[in-house]
Amino acid sequence: MSRLENAVPGYQHLVIEPYTPNIGATVRDIDLSDLRSEAVRAELRKALVEFQVLFFRQQTLTPEQHIEVAKVFGDPDKAKAFFPRHETQKVIEVLEARPGGNRFGTDEWHTDITFSANPPTGTVLYSRVVPPAGGDTAWASGTAVYESLPSSLRTYLEELEAVHSFEHSGWPPYFARLPDGEAVYRQARNDHLPVVHPVIRTHPVSGKKIVYVSPNFTDRIKGLSRQESDALLAFLFARFQRPEFQARLRWEADTVAVWDNRATVHYAVTDYGDAHRLLHRVTFGEDRAF
Ligand code: SIN
Repeated sequence: MSRLENAVPGYQHLVIEPYTPNIGATVRDIDLSDLRSEAVRAELRKALVEFQVLFFRQQTLTPEQHIEVAKVFGDPDKAKAFFPRHETQKVIEVLEARPGGNRFGTDEWHTDITFSANPPTGTVLYSRVVPPAGGDTAWASGTAVYESLPSSLRTYLEELEAVHSFEHSGWPPYFARLPDGEAVYRQARNDHLPVVHPVIRTHPVSGKKIVYVSPNFTDRIKGLSRQESDALLAFLFARFQRPEFQARLRWEADTVAVWDNRATVHYAVTDYGDAHRLLHRVTFGEDRAF
């Protein structure tokens, strides 16, 4: 195994290069199709908590091996969104943009599936077809945002809870463009009543505090007027937009990104016009925020 000049110390089995100082790392010299070593698996879990999003280039994975990667971090058979599914492996969601096709509304900052009481712990996204230019994904760190806030505001926010709702998100407009969209919408609405999460959550492994709201799914802060809630949420959402707290990935074919859904928000940059973009996604685990 080659060691990089700036490889992160404290890892015996992984070569890890920070992607930005606040969020993200590239893991080098690893073949994700062979993760039999428990020592490697343990270091991958440790790295995910430390860096919040991990990038792996030039990976050749079958759908089954993609699912095995997710199993390093959690059970892949938990909360899912409304994306089409892989034809043989139903836990794989297929995120495909084709010329003239429907878009998913993922071009808004969000933490996956916080419209459910137990959102996924994380996600493994694997690029199959990438546009010639554009189609990046960006992640932002909820711990970095929290740590940037003045302590009096942190104390105030720690008392608050927010309502998260799928109706507030990009999903209803997506359903409206489907041939059977009205029925899908009604079913989804029945299955996903709004839920409440703390505005500041605690990471169950690192113990760090995290700002846990996102424009795609957070509708309002409980106990505040609509005007007060909108103003406070707008302030927090704006913090996530600071590039200092972000990592933006330029996809290449066969790239894998794994993120900690407890600590991050992400945004699919939809700047690639009619180009073809295809990613396979496996969410894993489930997690009750506290
Ligand atoms: C998502 O999981 O929100 C989609 C990310 C992407 O398409 O880049």
